Amino acid sequence: MDDGMVVATHDVAHRFPGTDVLFEHLNITVRPGETVAVCGPSGCGKSTLLSILAGWEKPWHGTVERHGIGRIGWAFQNPYGVPERTALDHVVFPLLAKGMTRRAAEPQAMEALGLFDLEYAAGRRFADLSGGEAQRLMLARAVCARPDLLLVDEPTAQLDTRTVHSVSHVLGHLAGQGMIVMVATHDPDTRDACRRVIDLAEYAPRGEANA
Ligand SMILES: Nc1ncnc2c1ncn2[C@@H]1O[C@H](COP(=O)(O)OP(=O)(O)OP(=O)(O)O)[C@@H](O)[C@H]1O
Ligand SMILES: [Mg+2]
Repeated sequence: MDDGMVVATHDVAHRFPGTDVLFEHLNITVRPGETVAVCGPSGCGKSTLLSILAGWEKPWHGTVERHGIGRIGWAFQNPYGVPERTALDHVVFPLLAKGMTRRAAEPQAMEALGLFDLEYAAGRRFADLSGGEAQRLMLARAVCARPDLLLVDEPTAQLDTRTVHSVSHVLGHLAGQGMIVMVATHDPDTRDACRRVIDLAEYAPRGEANA
């Protein structure tokens, strides 16, 4: 990891063809060690902003700077997987894609499952996981290859309060190890556990600017 790592937006605004401008004049700079909650009402553009930060979506206006960021980990809002494959398979997969052997990948994958208290479910089929387990599996899969930038979309929608706290604690711990962690959420507990809050509602266009 690079100490000078940074993710920044410079006067970013976004709209999709056929939508109003979601947010504008967004200038943020995020460095390693930070956990940042991206908040705001449903539809305000939280998931879209994460895609823009990852480079998957090109902003309608402005630029995104990713300095020193190699690997990006992404935990999706809606858990998805291969029903017949085990939880462990899902976490091993990105490591195999990175060129590791299964033998080398498995302990690292188990460690990632362990971070989210999922070792017990390693051998279970994805189809048999509960909603909260599947959601934690997405987190384990996103962190297993030790990304520089971890983007997490609504990680706690299906979790109880105690699990929310432990997930938040793990995300803070990963940030402490030098990751940049950004979490889209409307859960107050998750938001409060982050060091910084970006409220996208503050960047919504006002009045006729959006007509
Ligand atoms: N590819 C697309 N084309 C057109 N509109 C889109 C596209 N992707 C998202 N949108 C719209 O842009 C808006 C922002 O979507 P986004 O998923 O970023 O919201 P969100 O803040 O993450 O909401 P939620 O809290 O419900 O997850 C929504 O109105 C959505 O329907
Ligand atoms: Mg979303």
